Amino acid sequence: MNTFVKKFPENFLWGGATAANQLEGGYNEAGKGLSTSDMLTAGTHTTRRRVTLEQEVGSNYPSHEAIDYYHRYAEDIALFGEMGFKVFRMSIAWSRIFPNGDDTEPNEEGLQFYDRVFAELKKHNIEPLVTISHYEAPFALAKTYNGWTNRQLVDFYVRYCETLFNRYKDTVKYWLTFNEINILTMPFGSFLAGAIPPEQSEELGAGPDDEQKRYQALHHQFIASAKAVKLGHEINPDFQIGCMIAYLCSYPLTANPDDVLLAQQKDNLTNFLCSDVQVRGAYPGFAKRYFAEQGLNIVMEAGDEQILRDGRVDFYTCSYYSSTCVSADPEQEQIGGNLSMGLKNPYLKASEWEWQIDPQGLRWSMNNIYNRYGIPIMVVENGLGAVDTVEADGSIHDAYRIDYLKQHIEAMKEAIADGVELVGYTPWGCIDLVSAGTGEMKKRYGFIHVDKDNDGNGTLNRSRKDSFHWYKQVIASNGEQLDPATVEALKA
Ligand code: BG6
Repeated sequence: MNTFVKKFPENFLWGGATAANQLEGGYNEAGKGLSTSDMLTAGTHTTRRRVTLEQEVGSNYPSHEAIDYYHRYAEDIALFGEMGFKVFRMSIAWSRIFPNGDDTEPNEEGLQFYDRVFAELKKHNIEPLVTISHYEAPFALAKTYNGWTNRQLVDFYVRYCETLFNRYKDTVKYWLTFNEINILTMPFGSFLAGAIPPEQSEELGAGPDDEQKRYQALHHQFIASAKAVKLGHEINPDFQIGCMIAYLCSYPLTANPDDVLLAQQKDNLTNFLCSDVQVRGAYPGFAKRYFAEQGLNIVMEAGDEQILRDGRVDFYTCSYYSSTCVSADPEQEQIGGNLSMGLKNPYLKASEWEWQIDPQGLRWSMNNIYNRYGIPIMVVENGLGAVDTVEADGSIHDAYRIDYLKQHIEAMKEAIADGVELVGYTPWGCIDLVSAGTGEMKKRYGFIHVDKDNDGNGTLNRSRKDSFHWYKQVIASNGEQLDPATVEALKA
């Protein structure tokens, strides 16, 4: 039998991913307004983060300093360059540009900060991939306008996009309108998505759920995204504007047809509802049925259908961390995961934060998505949140992280061999940063270690983990050299 050659395409975009509120810090510098993320306290794996209406003296707000990228971006980007990044996924803090969200003029100092960041990326031949809104909105919009439940946010968002598109039209080609827009299909995510007034969510994910508001807010985000895509293409026809979905891979727990059907329904409602709207430009039939059966009345304006059709994205991106199972039997054991709980899979191991590790699920998901849409895909988040130990000589031997990423890269290679048009890979938290879910620093994803602990102590110094040297080799070999055995030699 002939062996089939499996490899990554020549111009594959290797890189890493971050979000402004999890790494920048400088939360009130140079005219920046408060963002929803600035009102979130630190939590732990077992203690939820809290949303406060005012800043509490003595409480720890991890976004305020984060890893101080606001002042150290040049050093960090040089390290990304050293690894050979072709692309860097970052987000822009909306409240750095429009401090209150409804301002008529942008904050010039905020724009200048990103001018400097893009110039630095260019110096290292790194292409920016910009998320316009990654789990934050100006806090004033949440407080005064009730967040995305209010349709006025569409105009504020589009004004913000117009400002970014015009300012950076010759610097940025790749844009994502909203991070994990499908978080609004889950009870957990309303505050993270800037979708509800803060007083309704004292503990992150624990507030009363209002499905009607969630889906109404989601509709407004769809409209905002579609308008931004259309406007972006008018401003620069070369822009590539994508959607970003938290792809939650769900298997049926058994071959019972009830479980199989349930898994498909979860895939539809959790993953495909949003991407159908953003890629195909219309709500799918199963969404209409769901809204009707749940008694949800999504208020739409005349012309909305046309707006959605006109604002179809150019490419599909997603995060992929883990998989879970679903069952029609309510007695089965639950396990965590990003954004939502699922059932434990007896064939898989889980991370310390109980996210099940499933590289094959990535291959399965890539095929599942590509079979549906047939457009280019980028995996813009993937990785292992783990506790790292710094040895006496300062080295960090994160073989577990290398192992996780290696298996997922192999799975992507398989998916490409299956015919999937996979064009890029940006593992999450390429430099250690604040965890979105728990607010911790000790849940680390990075190739680059940042000396800071959960309580905010540390020098903030950066250092290279073993995975740094390994990933550099992966990129240099375009995904051919995945063997970690040579890490010691690579360091020399
Ligand atoms: C994704 C988010 O869901 O998961 C990121 O887009 C987040 O912002 C990442 O950081 C990992 O989750 P966590 O909770 O470990 O930070």
